[in-house]
Amino acid sequence: MISLSGNQDHIPVLISQILETIKPIGGVWIDGTFGAGGYAKAFLESGADFVIGIDRDPDTNVYANALKSLYPSKLVFVNENFSNLKNVANKLGFGGVNGIVLDLGISSMQIDSTKRGFSFRYDSPLDMRMSKTGKTAAEVVNQLSESELSDIFFKFGEEKKSKAVAREIVKARKSQQIVSTFDLVNIISRVVKGNRLSNIHPATRCFQALRLYVNGELDEIEKALLATKRILFHGGLLVVVSFHSLEDRIVKNFMRNSSQSKPQPNRYLPIFESERAPFKIITKKPIVPSDYEQSRNPRSRSAKCRIAVRIECEDSHKKKMGQL
Ligand SMILES: C[S@@+](CC[C@H](N)C(=O)[O-])C[C@H]1O[C@@H](n2cnc3c(N)ncnc32)[C@H](O)[C@@H]1O
Repeated sequence: MISLSGNQDHIPVLISQILETIKPIGGVWIDGTFGAGGYAKAFLESGADFVIGIDRDPDTNVYANALKSLYPSKLVFVNENFSNLKNVANKLGFGGVNGIVLDLGISSMQIDSTKRGFSFRYDSPLDMRMSKTGKTAAEVVNQLSESELSDIFFKFGEEKKSKAVAREIVKARKSQQIVSTFDLVNIISRVVKGNRLSNIHPATRCFQALRLYVNGELDEIEKALLATKRILFHGGLLVVVSFHSLEDRIVKNFMRNSSQSKPQPNRYLPIFESERAPFKIITKKPIVPSDYEQSRNPRSRSAKCRIAVRIECEDSHKKKMGQL
């Protein structure tokens, strides 16, 4: 592991396989999910000329400062949402970039924190906000209606008992506000029972759902993916690592749809630039962790990496990017 602080804060997932697939690495990269800086450091060590690090969590600044001290002229870090990656790069003076990497979800520092409410394993304030701004998970469960809560658990957690959980929350909060992770775990556990065959905690799906909702995670991914098309140079790479099916579905569909040309109305007509597919998929099948990586880092278990390359850029795009 690439450790900046001397301890294993967050083990970067799939990094060797990613670097092997996309080498040689060079030019300007955006790391939209900086975390502990493991990916950014690996990209810089592997030949990236410059990395724009982005993370919405202010707690990651300490890791950014540590990496900046190693690469003072090759790294800039911005506390932002990655959906703004194009604006961030433009504001820094970059009209285009050679690669973008998104390692989705939350870091080990976040899930292992005993204060931030991401984990049902620790009793802590029910917060879950990556950016430490906006509505907390506690405000969500205390303020939203029963049907809104049920929709969240169903849509973002695929929780079969979403309605019953929402009903139990509304009943419980009438006598006492829900303030801690364990308050919520107790309520969920009254409705969702553990399964002897799987060791999935009964609160897993509802906690995932609340986290995705509180942080608008799926919207963020959709917006960021759309922005990649407008900021990647011709030949630029898009690397996305996802950890659950809801994330991966968005990435897979985006890459699939963006790698298919729109059908030509008439085969004798020239293909208009705007109808050409903007990406070509490099990973026919997603890259997944080896048995060795999974045993070394069980958190890598569900990771899937998809990679695509920006192609068929319109001449206007190339001109804007200085590639013509
Ligand atoms: C899995 S960790 C990345 C770990 C990193 N690759 C490393 O090697 O240390 C995901 C990080 O992305 C950040 N993040 C998640 N969604 C984000 C968003 N929409 N905008 C900016 N940062 C986001 C989280 O705060 C977290 O630090």
